[in-house]
Amino acid sequence: MLTSGGDCQALNAAMRGVVKGLSENDKDLEVYGFYDGYKGLIYGNYRLLSSKDFSGILTVGGTILGSSRQPFKQMRIPDENGLDKVEAMKETYYKLNLDCLVILGGNGTQKTANLLREEGLNVIHLPKTIDNDIYGTDVTFGFQSAINVACNAIDCIHTTAASHNRVFIVEVMGHKVGWLTLYAGVASGADIILLPEIPYDIDKVIEAIDKRHQAGKGFTILAVAEGAISKEDAALSKKEWKKKRENSPYPSVSYEIAKLIGDRTGSEARVTVPGHTQRGGSPCPYDRVLCTRLGSAAAQAILEKDYGYMIAMIDGQTKRVPLEDVAGKLKMVDPDCQMIQEAKRIGISFGD
Ligand code: F6P
Repeated sequence: MLTSGGDCQALNAAMRGVVKGLSENDKDLEVYGFYDGYKGLIYGNYRLLSSKDFSGILTVGGTILGSSRQPFKQMRIPDENGLDKVEAMKETYYKLNLDCLVILGGNGTQKTANLLREEGLNVIHLPKTIDNDIYGTDVTFGFQSAINVACNAIDCIHTTAASHNRVFIVEVMGHKVGWLTLYAGVASGADIILLPEIPYDIDKVIEAIDKRHQAGKGFTILAVAEGAISKEDAALSKKEWKKKRENSPYPSVSYEIAKLIGDRTGSEARVTVPGHTQRGGSPCPYDRVLCTRLGSAAAQAILEKDYGYMIAMIDGQTKRVPLEDVAGKLKMVDPDCQMIQEAKRIGISFGD
């Protein structure tokens, strides 16, 4: 078992589900934990775990195995000592005579899991990420817990923004997608929500702020995805946009928007970045249930020796989804989805 990529609140809860589901039904079970994601599998850094290791961790955030980012793009490139990483992982797998690798992680992790499957290893993947961008599952674990943190941050900003009649931007994580910003923004009553999937027009953003002021509302809250992009920037090539960001004096898009709002409205906009707090703390009850179910369903697949799947949650049911059908695909917010139409109907601006 290994946990790879950015951590989240519910990794331990998911591992506990898998191990409990297996150990209740297979008394000879042995579980090896690989440390720091694929690194542990590549360099043979692992430990035989006991069921005690998985006791009392349902509510504990982070991961007892540690994690690291091992980009998929670099998996086929030998390390600094010339080691072939894929071959090294296979060697560890065969040396330990493993039945299956249980791999918990996001998109990049899933691509490597699929690569290992193609290389002939038995794998089961569990969809982890606060970004909720894994294709083929309705929800990923970590997402709901992160919504709670981001929503709480915006709630706290709300009261101080109202007291001081200020414009506030809360920058929400989510990498290239807007799920977390959309849900945290709607849940906390944000006035303007900017998502990567809906490139914003700064004139429309200013218009929305002015409209609130004219209606006698002195403050405005913007929930801005870290991957939000203006209409002009969205028209640039990837290369041009990257260069523009590298040369930008602003640490992120939120600060750039704040500067433009300040220049155009005359009132300073403040930026708050909850950052990695969104991945920290205890998993929320929804994630604890989700992970217990996904973990138990993963155990069932392993007991049946049915490998090569992501264990997904679809319409409230756990499902085995073939890895080759989903690896490398991104689940983005549909700009025309019902939730966005409903949010617009109650006056939330998406800057478009
Ligand atoms: O994928 C989870 C995530 O938290 C993203 O929302 C964010 O863009 C990224 O990881 C941050 O990565 P790191 O922890 O490596 O800075």
